[in-house]
Amino acid sequence: MLEVSDLRKKLDIIRQQAFINIEKINDLYELQVTKTQYLGKNSAINDILKSVTQLPHQYRIEIGQLTNKLKKEISDKITIKFNELEKKLIDEKLKDSEIDLTLPGLDFSIGHRNPLLKTVDDIANIFKNLGYQIVSGNEVENEEYNFNRLNLPANHPARAMQDTFYLDNNSKEVNRWLLRTHATNITARILSKQNKNKQKVEAVISLGNVYRKDNDDATHSHQFMQVDGFVVAPNITFANLKWTLNHFCQQMFGLETKTRLRPSYFPFTEPSVEVDVNCPMCKLQGCSLCKHTGWIEVLGAGMIHPNVFTAAGLDEATAGFAFGVGIERIAMIKYGIDDIRLFYNNDLRFLKQF
Ligand code: DAH
Repeated sequence: MLEVSDLRKKLDIIRQQAFINIEKINDLYELQVTKTQYLGKNSAINDILKSVTQLPHQYRIEIGQLTNKLKKEISDKITIKFNELEKKLIDEKLKDSEIDLTLPGLDFSIGHRNPLLKTVDDIANIFKNLGYQIVSGNEVENEEYNFNRLNLPANHPARAMQDTFYLDNNSKEVNRWLLRTHATNITARILSKQNKNKQKVEAVISLGNVYRKDNDDATHSHQFMQVDGFVVAPNITFANLKWTLNHFCQQMFGLETKTRLRPSYFPFTEPSVEVDVNCPMCKLQGCSLCKHTGWIEVLGAGMIHPNVFTAAGLDEATAGFAFGVGIERIAMIKYGIDDIRLFYNNDLRFLKQF
C-alpha cells in the first residue's frame, strides 16, 4: 500500500533535484534531455500520477493536485531556462559575427520613369482615349517620305545638309536615305496605304525620335522626340482640329488652360497654325518661361495640304487635319525644366525630383 506521506516527500525531493539540475544546465540539448527526464512519459512524476488511482479516495485529489502543480513548476523553470540560453546563444553569435549593427541601413530607393517617358505615356493616353491608333514608325527614312510627299520640294531649305543628317553625304541618289527630321513621315506613309476609291476614316498618332543638325544647348538637341498625328474622315473641318488641340492642351496642362491659335506656315498643311497655351507658371502675368508674353508655343497644326493627298495617290478634295508636338518642350513646360539636356544626362539629382 502506498504511503501518502512518502509520496509527498518524493514530490519534494523531485522538486529540489529538478530545480538544482535545471539551474546548472548550460546548453539547449541538455535542457531537452532534462525536460524528458522530468516531464516525459517515463518520468517519476508520471509514475506518481499513474499510481494516484491506487490511493484511498480522500488522498487522490490532494496528491493529484500536488503532482500537477509540480509538473507546472518544473515546466515553467524549463521555459525560463530555455529563453535564457537562447538569448545567450544569439548574443554570442552576434559578438562573433561581422555584422555591425551600428551601421546605417541600405538605401532601398525605388527607381521611376524619366519625366520625358512619362510625358510620352501621358500624350499617348490622351489620344488613345479619343480612339486614335498609336504607332512608332521608322526613324531611318528617305527623302520621298520625309520631304517630297509632304510638299517639301527639292529646293526647300529644310532639306539642306546643315539641317538634315543624311546617311551618306556623298550619295548621288535622287532619293537619299536620312534620319527623319520630323515624325510627319508616318503621315505620308500611312496615307499612301489608303484606297482612293474607298476612303477609310483614320486617326493615328506616332511618337518617336527625330534628328536635326542642331548644336546642343539649353533648348536644342540634335535628337529629340515628337508626336505627330492626323485624322482623315469625310467632312472633317478646322473646327474639329481646334476642338482636338484644345482638348489635348487642357488634358496635358490642366482644365483651366487657355489656347490661342496663330496663323503660321508648314508646307504640308493649309491653313496652318501654331498653338500657344497660357503660361502655366505665371498664368498670363509674364515670367521668364514665357519671355514675359504670358503665352507659350506648344505645337504646329493645320488642315492637310491637297498636295499631300495627291502625292499619296488620293483625291485632292480628301479632308483631314494634322498636328505635330515636340515632346521635350511639353515636358519642360509641364515640369518647369529649363534645360533640354537634363532629360538625357541621367543625373540622379535631376531624376529623383519626379
Ligand atoms: N513637322 C513639323 C515640325 O517638325 C511639326 C508639324 C506641324 C507637324 C504641323 C504636323 C503639322 O503634322 O500639321 O516642326
